[in-house]
Amino acid sequence: MILVTGGAGFIGANFVLDWLRGNRGPVVNLDKLTYAGNLENLAALGGDPHHIFVRGDIGDAELVGQLLAEHRPRAVVNFAAESHVDRSILGPGEFIQTNVVGSFRLLEAVRGYWSALPADEQAEFRFLHVSTDEVYGSLGADDAPFAETHRVEPNSPYSASKAASDHLVRAWHHTYGLPVLTTNCSNNYGPYQFPEKLIPLVIHHALQGKPLPIYGNGSNVRDWLFVGDHCTAIRVVLEKGRLGEIYNIGGCNEMSNLEVVHTLCDILDREAPRSDHRSYREQISFVKDRPGHDRRYAIDAGKIAGELDWTPAETFASGIAKTVRWYLDNTSWVEHVTSGTYRQWLDLQYRP
Ligand code: NAD
Ligand code: TYD
Repeated sequence: MILVTGGAGFIGANFVLDWLRGNRGPVVNLDKLTYAGNLENLAALGGDPHHIFVRGDIGDAELVGQLLAEHRPRAVVNFAAESHVDRSILGPGEFIQTNVVGSFRLLEAVRGYWSALPADEQAEFRFLHVSTDEVYGSLGADDAPFAETHRVEPNSPYSASKAASDHLVRAWHHTYGLPVLTTNCSNNYGPYQFPEKLIPLVIHHALQGKPLPIYGNGSNVRDWLFVGDHCTAIRVVLEKGRLGEIYNIGGCNEMSNLEVVHTLCDILDREAPRSDHRSYREQISFVKDRPGHDRRYAIDAGKIAGELDWTPAETFASGIAKTVRWYLDNTSWVEHVTSGTYRQWLDLQYRP
């Protein structure tokens, strides 16, 4: 049994689906179901008795304590977070509440549970904290990619709140001996990603005939990783990672935003051509830049490759083709998540 938090969101749902497909044991899935959490992401599980869903907050120490006492998991994998940089700029409060205060309360509940376990179960137990490369700040064009030893220099309210939670996790290991692992991963893409993030937003807007908004001049660089590869890496760290260590996870796949959007337009031109047979590239629209927009992220994934023998299975070409196909085949999922509150978000974020 493992306890997954945030398992109805993008990466958490992919992780839970992969975990149960692989018959790796039962999962308790604790998720608050914010705008980003969606039980439809888990519909493929049907009534799988190995999946126990509980709606709740990681900051609810009493609930978390009850779940731990009842299900006695051998590990907690913490995906739960507010995750969108632009939302953190417009309203940082929820990011502090969930990512900082929530992580603290979760750590305390887990510490209470772990410290009362018999010695053999205590030795087996793991708390894996899922974090982001954004905690390291921004790279210049010629800088070496982020290694685990890079200074922590977060620039957005989102990355600052994630860095704070990473520090709490580190301190709970050093001070209390809690057996923790932290992963810092680059930008993910794939099925079930909420269409507020670049790749699903561009696919959705393209098909709707709407402008494809590119912040600034589109030269900002991200290191893209297919979500299934992130899930594999988390499993490898959970099983073989050294306690108290940080593992950076990345796709070795740096691309500018403009390159990503051009790739998406080219795939859509082939797979779902516009009725006027012109290119989706015509819908590209350069809009005002994100405040404090980090220029470049890139991951040095040498540690996880060397120590734990993990490398990504997908190339960007194979992963992005699968992703576009998934969005084309799952239009009803997109329709359901782009309901009323989503439209309000677009009006607020992309108003001229
Ligand atoms: P997401 O926003 O799609 O999902 C987050 C999930 O957490 C949602 O299901 C939401 O309902 C749930 N949640 C939010 N607050 C909660 C709370 N207080 N209690 C319980 N559940 C709560 O995010 P994602 O993209 O799946 O990211 C998952 C994790 O991975 C996050 O910690 C994020 O920082 C990290 N991460 C994301 C990326 C990326 O590219 N998306 C890259 C690296 C790391
Ligand atoms: P995003 O998917 O929000 O991830 P993150 O900010 O965590 O890296 O954005 C990826 C890149 O795409 C980032 O440089 C911002 C840019 N971007 C746009 O140009 N237009 C958009 O509409 C969005 C959402 C993002």
